[in-house]
Amino acid sequence: MANRDIKVENILGTSSKAAVSSWDKLLEIQVELFLPFELNFFLSNTGWEKATSILDVGCGNGYYLSRLQNFFNDKHYTGIDISPELSDIALTRYTNKDILFEQADFLNYRPENKFDIIIMRLIVQHMSDFPQLLRQASSLLNANGRLIIIEPDLDGFINIPATPMFSSLLREYGIFTEKTQRNRAILSNINQSIEGILDWEITNQTIMAVPQTGPLNNTKFLEMYILWIDIIERSSVIRFPFSKTRQELDKWSKNASTYSQIGIQAIEMQNRARI
Ligand SMILES: C[S@@+](CC[C@H](N)C(=O)[O-])C[C@H]1O[C@@H](n2cnc3c(N)ncnc32)[C@H](O)[C@@H]1O
Repeated sequence: MANRDIKVENILGTSSKAAVSSWDKLLEIQVELFLPFELNFFLSNTGWEKATSILDVGCGNGYYLSRLQNFFNDKHYTGIDISPELSDIALTRYTNKDILFEQADFLNYRPENKFDIIIMRLIVQHMSDFPQLLRQASSLLNANGRLIIIEPDLDGFINIPATPMFSSLLREYGIFTEKTQRNRAILSNINQSIEGILDWEITNQTIMAVPQTGPLNNTKFLEMYILWIDIIERSSVIRFPFSKTRQELDKWSKNASTYSQIGIQAIEMQNRARI
């Protein structure tokens, strides 16, 4: 049973059933939408091919790791997450899988063995103090180990026709993350932010576009956008006309000439001092 004394901050909060349900759905949708593109990245990555021990930091409900294991079943997987509720889901849902799930805070995590690869997917943006995060990653990696960060490429987001309210909501959320010094603010320039930190170097950066043509009603794309709105609203981190934004997307999504695109980036990094 996971430890409920560890608290997760605001947007990632999962103490209510409604929040757990939204996150559980959202994490699954984001895996379904992005994984085919990410697989392309993994399949052409020699570090990944050789790696045998993988740590997924902030593994959420475990769905991502369970899908990765489907495709690469020659590796040992460990997933950690700070949320007691999401850790419980991962622990109970994938008992038949050979994956070690644990509830743990990455920053205090002290496993017995080190890893060949650490994956941080859609978590770096929510954390702050990037150098501290890299120091901790370094301490958990084998010599020659690699860190793979997967995050949105914010410049790759396109909605046609434009959805001004939705875009404005994303901007407002971005401002909140900057004020609270979340790493999301450095996503557009993550390579520059890494250069020169503690001997880390980028060994591969791949930008991917995930597209969807309309009409977008009844698609995972629309469902994902609505869940983003629900989660931001429930977290109360910003004030915004959320209902009107949902209405805008609802109307927009029915138009057959809509196009939507999400950008994602995978960044593979190595600490030169540990090679
Ligand atoms: C947006 S979710 C991404 C989940 C998963 N990586 C995926 O892509 O499906 C971010 C996750 O990071 C977890 N998290 C945040 N801070 C953490 C920390 N310090 N240690 C471990 N997990 C953390 C949250 O509980 C949440 O489940």
